[in-house]
Amino acid sequence: MKKLFHPVTIALVVVGFIISLPWIIPKKEVVLNDRQLRAAAASHNLVPMPKSYEGVLKATYNPENPPSEAKIALGQQLYFDTRLSRDKTINCATCHILQEGGDDNLPTAIGYHGRANPKHLNSPTVLNAALAKRQFWDGRAKDVEEQAGGPVQAPFEMNMTPGEVEARLNADSAMCQQFETVFGDANVTFENVRKAIGAYERTLLTRGAYDRFLEGDDSALSPAAKRGMTLFVTKGCAGCHAGMSVGGQSIQKFPLRRYLSDYLGLIFEPNVRLKESPFPFVNVGGFLGKDEALKFRVPILRNVTKTAPYFHNGAEEKLEEAVRIMSKYQVGQEFNRTQIADVVAFLKSLEGEIVEK
Ligand code: HEC
Ligand code: HEC
Repeated sequence: MKKLFHPVTIALVVVGFIISLPWIIPKKEVVLNDRQLRAAAASHNLVPMPKSYEGVLKATYNPENPPSEAKIALGQQLYFDTRLSRDKTINCATCHILQEGGDDNLPTAIGYHGRANPKHLNSPTVLNAALAKRQFWDGRAKDVEEQAGGPVQAPFEMNMTPGEVEARLNADSAMCQQFETVFGDANVTFENVRKAIGAYERTLLTRGAYDRFLEGDDSALSPAAKRGMTLFVTKGCAGCHAGMSVGGQSIQKFPLRRYLSDYLGLIFEPNVRLKESPFPFVNVGGFLGKDEALKFRVPILRNVTKTAPYFHNGAEEKLEEAVRIMSKYQVGQEFNRTQIADVVAFLKSLEGEIVEK
């Protein structure tokens, strides 16, 4: 009995108790009222989408490619023009279907002659992409105008050369006339093709319940969505998924954290593919981001409920699981089921309709 109350034993028990306090004390959820929630969102630069088409043009204005009605119409036409692909079967909308969240709902993109993306990359949404600071999973293009040249030339997407696109479109006199009207030059150049498509993409901004809430409509979000939004802004999600587009503004490391269980998993996990993965999901495609340093352009979360599967290689089918992975590996605090459901309810409020003229 005497041994039991030995000072060392007591010290150990006290130290053990103190260390485990954070786990013993139930965590109090932060509760914000609607006004506080809006203020917290604003502090993360989470701002609503413009209400009007004119507002949209202002929000995405590019001085190097000023929009005009005729340029946007031409860009829209080119977006759906299969002549931009070698066998005339593929257009931008093949992989970026505007009514389906701006992507193709496939794990990886399938282009020319059924060829899959060699790195098994998932098609990101084209909706709101014009608001992103960089384009592509590794952020290698600076804007939508530069980006638009990529898919046309990729052998596994449209498989053309700039010269071939120019020759095809220059053979179409009606098209030349349109280029003349828009650019003051009837000779179709690849650069002007990119510019027209870019101008069109700059009109593809979406608005929904989330924007109405930010503007002051308390009833626009359900209580679950508000709890989810509170987690999103107070736990750090909004630090990366920031801005009007709720993402797209920076390049970040993923995964940010590692856990002992990840390594124990290597010993006990019989799945060979999982062993090779630096991610909390299979490393199909082997893509490691910018400079192969596990750095990725933060995805845009507007319309994310419509853009499954998730992550750069489309390895995750369920949005709930994507949120759990984010909470554990990016925030360092794994959400429970209720929290995940609340965040998903919030993400659903990011669905929106294109702001039309
Ligand atoms: C075969 C499918 C396919 C076609 C066709 C295609 N894309 Fe993509 N798109 C993708 C994939 C896959 C990515 C991501 C590639 C990467 O990050 O390397 C992407 C990326 C993008 C992005 C970047 C979005 C972001 O948030 O980073 C934009 C914008 C885009 N495409 C627009 C277009 C336009 C415009 C066209 C037509 C000229 C087009 N795409 C044709 C599959 C396709
Ligand atoms: C440190 C920056 C960072 C933080 C914090 C962060 N994310 Fe992410 N998020 C990323 C990056 C980078 C990716 C892309 C990873 C990939 O595909 O390999 C991503 C991907 C996602 C995706 C998948 C999107 C898609 O289209 O594939 C969802 C959903 C998501 N995050 C939600 C959240 C939520 C919810 C939180 C808060 C719990 C959060 N993120 C916190 C950087 C972050």
